[in-house]
Amino acid sequence: MARRVTEVLAADAAAVLGLPTGRTPMPLYRLLARLGDEGTLDFSQATTFNLDEFLGIGPDHPGSYHAYMQQHLLSHVNLPSTRAHLLRGWTEDPERECARYEAEIEDAGGIDLQLLGIGANGHIGFNEPGPHLMARTHRASLRPGTRRANAIFFGGDSDAVPKEALSMGMGTILKARRIVLMATGKSKARAVQRTVHGSLTTRVPASFLQLHRDVELICDHAAAAGLGTR
Ligand code: GLP
Repeated sequence: MARRVTEVLAADAAAVLGLPTGRTPMPLYRLLARLGDEGTLDFSQATTFNLDEFLGIGPDHPGSYHAYMQQHLLSHVNLPSTRAHLLRGWTEDPERECARYEAEIEDAGGIDLQLLGIGANGHIGFNEPGPHLMARTHRASLRPGTRRANAIFFGGDSDAVPKEALSMGMGTILKARRIVLMATGKSKARAVQRTVHGSLTTRVPASFLQLHRDVELICDHAAAAGLGTR
């Protein structure tokens, strides 16, 4: 996945990248950070948009995706802070913040390469399984399992994980010109299997990636365990 990023930036130094958080991309960011520290990765003309952020916590909160991105990538690369976009989870007006974010993505010319992780329940960003999905950036309620999965960013306490978040919508993600989804570990095997072989269903938000013309899945053997079967 790091190679995908370096290739895209080599082809277009001003590329627009969509970035995920979570445990899965940590090794990716470690590699990119090392290249950044060595000065061999040039983000000076790039633009990034993060997928999502918890609602109701500030950028300095250690559990925020702002803090995560700062720690894992932004403090290591020469990306101007004005072009590192994240949703402001501390906003007083979530709906307006979501509209602002959509407009910023539009103004940047759309996302060239969207990197994604996947939740064990098939969520992407914070587009959780349910009876319907939202197309645009929106305010989302988090499932208990998703809050538990994010507890490591909140001192291991899932009750400390906010109940809501702001997230790019399914349409925001699917409008990216190219998508790379990354999954590791056996806890993702079922979600990966349903994403690749299952029906399109709002119960598995990632299944909608089947509609995209340029999506690539990078996974380890454990996450790929269900791919031979239907
Ligand atoms: C989180 C994030 C997603 C991430 C997913 C998987 O809740 N909102 O963007 O891809 O869940 O996280 P992890 O990589 O830690 O399993």
